[in-house]
Order: sequence, then C-alpha cells, then structure tokens
Amino acid sequence: MQSNSLKNKVIVVTGGAGAIGHCFIQRIAESGGVAVAADINLHAAQSLAEKIPLGIAGQIEAAHLDITSKDSIHALISDLKQRHGRIDAVVNNAYPRNKRYGRKLEDVTYSDFCKNVNTHLGGYFLVAQQFCLAFKEQGYGNVINMSSIYGSMAPRFEVYDGTSMTMPVEYAAIKSAIEHLTRYFAQYFKGTGIRVNCLSPGGILSNQPADFLSAYNKHCASKGMLDASDLVETLLFLLSDGSRHMTGQILLVDDGFSL
Ligand SMILES: NC(=O)c1ccc[n+]([C@@H]2O[C@H](COP(=O)([O-])OP(=O)(O)OC[C@H]3O[C@@H](n4cnc5c(N)ncnc54)[C@H](O)[C@@H]3O)[C@@H](O)[C@H]2O)c1
Repeated sequence: MQSNSLKNKVIVVTGGAGAIGHCFIQRIAESGGVAVAADINLHAAQSLAEKIPLGIAGQIEAAHLDITSKDSIHALISDLKQRHGRIDAVVNNAYPRNKRYGRKLEDVTYSDFCKNVNTHLGGYFLVAQQFCLAFKEQGYGNVINMSSIYGSMAPRFEVYDGTSMTMPVEYAAIKSAIEHLTRYFAQYFKGTGIRVNCLSPGGILSNQPADFLSAYNKHCASKGMLDASDLVETLLFLLSDGSRHMTGQILLVDDGFSL
C-alpha cells in the first residue's frame, strides 16, 4: 500500500486508543489520512496523538466519544464536518464491556448479558446509523465494522482449558449480529455512495498464557495467533478505493484458525 493512499481522507476509529485501534490510527496517518482516535478514554487518545512520529504523511487527532450516546456521536460528526468539511470513513472498533464481562456461561446473569449486548452491539448500531445518515447527506462514506471469528464460528472451548479465560456468550451474540447488520446496512444504503464492510479477526496476541497459545496455534496455517499490526493491510484495503466495488462483505483475517 502506497504511503499516501489515504491522502486527506478523514477517518474515525472508535476505540482508537485501544490495542487494535492505536495500530489502525498510526497506519492511517502514515498513509496520509487524518486519523481520528475517538475514544471514551480521551486521555489515552490524546497520549496517542502526542506520540506522532516525525515526518508522518497524515495527522492524528484525539476526540472524546461514547458510542452509546447519540449526542456524543453527533458532537463528533458536526465538529469534524465543521473543521474538515468531510468525513470519509468510520471504523466501528470500540470494545465496551462491563466489569463482570468474560465469565463462563453459567455465571452470566441476564442483566450482564443485556448490558454487554446493549453497549457493544447497540453502540455499533448507533455509530453506523448516525454516520450513514451524515454520509448520505454528503453523498459518500465508508463504514467498517469490527467483528471476530466468533461472529461466524462456534467457539473451540478446549483451547481455553487450564486458563481462567473463555469465549463469552455475549460476544457470540454481539459479533454474529454485527456481521448481519453489516449486510443489512450495505443493502439499505445501496445506491447512496455508502458502503459497509466487516473485518473479522482471529485472536490477537496480548500476553496470553503459553498453554493457551500453543493450543490455539495448532489450528493455524503459518504464524499462529496474529498481532494487531497483521490486520492493518486489510483495513487499509477496505478504506481504499481498491475496494470501492465491495459492500456487505465479511473479511476474515485469522491465519486459518476458523477453518
Ligand atoms: N483483541 C482481540 O483479540 C480481538 C480479536 C477479534 C476482534 N476484536 C475486536 O476488535 C475491536 C477492538 O478490540 P481491542 O482488543 O483493541 O479492544 P481494547 O479493549 O484494547 O480497546 C477498546 C477501546 O474501546 C474504548 N471504549 C470502550 N467503551 C467505549 C465507548 N462506549 N465509546 C467509545 N470508546 C469506548 C476503550 O476505551 C478502548 O480504548 C473490538 O471490536 C473487538 O471485539 C478483538
């Protein structure tokens, strides 16, 4: 991908200060884009923006955003439109969860289930809805929803044996719905200049226990569990004109784990 392939494109990454988001922000800016790290943790987004490497082709901006608040989404859209005159894309990438998230199925209460589905799935819906309405007005726009392999495959629970980790039941409900919302939105906005696609990664390395990694990696084709940086080229493709005839698609990047 050429270093100026996103020249002057204004691209919002929700949850832009997180593990995957910060990688996306950095590479969007390196590719000439205006990368907006929009996060509920404004301080973390600002620290990221302050660490811009010298000589970068584009720029990084930090913004406060709560994806579960329509007012917060509106404030971001109107600020960007006012300052840049356009918004090219939004990457729905935030990862809200409550303090009890990550428990085994037996321990998930009705209230936890609803809370996590509401904030994550509901927030992705709200961001996609509000940005698509703004995109329709300007005549173009690009939405990329972050899913997970667990949006389309049943969990391999055995890879978590001997760890305190599991694949939360809420996550299956949320990510499968995000994949289908991707198709719904793509169909709904056909003919408006808006396209909507989904990037669906496998697990991402972040100091997981060695036994878990070894069990996980047995299902992979070459590298094993990927780094966040391994997703970036696929994101850049979805953001670029090279994918202009793609909409409603789910791209899996998982080194073959889901096969
Ligand atoms: N890490 C993985 O292994 C993995 C694998 C597959 C898919 N994903 C998906 O990738 C996306 C990013 O995951 P991550 O691992 O970088 O998560 P992360 O927890 O590292 O970062 C998430 C970011 O979202 C922000 N956030 C939380 N609630 C918010 C809200 N209401 N509004 C705005 N921002 C909010 C947090 O402050 C944080 O900066 C998620 O959709 C996740 O499901 C992650």
